[in-house]
Amino acid sequence: MQLTPLHVQGGRPLGGEIAIQHSKNAALPIIVASLLSREVITLHGIPRLSDVYTILELMHHLGTRHAWVGPNSLTLHTPEILSTHAPYALVSKMRASFIVLGAILARAGEARVSMPGGCAWGPRPVDQHVKALRALGAEVTEQGGDFHAARHGSLAGTFVFELLTVGGTHNALLAAALGDGVVTLENASIDTDVVDLIEFLNSLGAQIEGAGTNTLTIRGVEALRGGEYTVIPDRIEAGTFMMLAAATRSKLTLTNVRPDHLRAVIAKMAEMGVSILEDGSRMIVDARDRELRAVNVTTQSYPGFPTDLQPQMSALLATLPGTSVVQDPVYPDRLTHVAELHRMGANITVSGYTQVIQGAPLHAAPVKAADLRAGAALFIAGLTCEGETIIDGVQYLNRGYERLAERLRGIGAEVRQPEPMLAADD
Ligand code: EPU
Repeated sequence: MQLTPLHVQGGRPLGGEIAIQHSKNAALPIIVASLLSREVITLHGIPRLSDVYTILELMHHLGTRHAWVGPNSLTLHTPEILSTHAPYALVSKMRASFIVLGAILARAGEARVSMPGGCAWGPRPVDQHVKALRALGAEVTEQGGDFHAARHGSLAGTFVFELLTVGGTHNALLAAALGDGVVTLENASIDTDVVDLIEFLNSLGAQIEGAGTNTLTIRGVEALRGGEYTVIPDRIEAGTFMMLAAATRSKLTLTNVRPDHLRAVIAKMAEMGVSILEDGSRMIVDARDRELRAVNVTTQSYPGFPTDLQPQMSALLATLPGTSVVQDPVYPDRLTHVAELHRMGANITVSGYTQVIQGAPLHAAPVKAADLRAGAALFIAGLTCEGETIIDGVQYLNRGYERLAERLRGIGAEVRQPEPMLAADD
């Protein structure tokens, strides 16, 4: 269904409290990991996002039956794998679904998963996923746009990732969790989403050591039991609202946050002049009546400054006086927000993965999100401007921010999404 654009009327401070959703990027691999157990899994803290519905559709095709048992709680049950093939029509909707390769391989001994392809901001390679599975003894071949993986016995051995990859680490962990082999992953990701996946798998009886370090040891187990688990809070959503508070010179209280997952972001916001008070799982972000300073930002793997907050940070910096340099070597082409921010008067010049930003007040304009975090950059920018910014491409925002318009209204933002106009003969 074609979604109508978001109409955002900005230029005044926001305020109040907002509950941060649980993590999209932790929830997706945990949902996939439920494929490893024959028993019922209950998950809490599952945000109702289109990416979650997409993975559930793929899992249904593979044999998983699910039921929502609460607003953000889900049961998943895969007594048998009904298909070992994840087709292009489903995988191409969401690149993250490629990690079903490792999960189906572990459970069924073979898997065929369509190559995920690129996304709006460039190629998203999976070479490390494939190299890891091969190094651990799986046979992986490419045919007709699909990867086919098969194992003869349990996976075992050591793989050293050539770079830090969250999805590559997820895929290798899922592939190695069942069986009787021992797998060591070196230079593995220490991302919070990897740690959450390991804690979930271990809660079902997996034997994985080293969570949060670059070396993971996985001792395969015969089977995983059922269980219940709550996904971590979404650090990217929290960061997005921190930047919104700063850009609109507001005071916002965020609840359901893990400040320990946001160290690089908190440090950067403090350098900018934003006051941040941590109080357990609450964080009070106060940018009222403050002279905020331009800062330079370079993205890195966790625990560095996240690429998933680069477009939002760029939008914020585009509104601050002074010159900022923002570099995103993690995803060098993640720049779809720039042309749209130009439409709002932003002064950003791009060279390679570097943006040089001369801050100045922005003005309202019609704009279009081409991906999720670019969409977030645009609603932040829009809420700094007087007048109405109309943001098209709402389907991307729905991939990552639950009930966005309603929650923004809850902190005083003037946001509306008109109902679609029905044609006379509808
Ligand atoms: N890379 C390779 N080869 C691989 C895998 C990755 O070269 O086989 C490179 C990538 O090109 C990139 C870097 O390694 O430069 C890191 O990529 P990573 O594999 O860690 O990313 P991912 O697992 O595909 C997840 C998030 C992304 C987030 C990245 C980086 C999910 C569903 N996606 O992707 O989130 O940008 O980690 O932190 O977890 C988003 O939520 O907006 C989003 C895109």
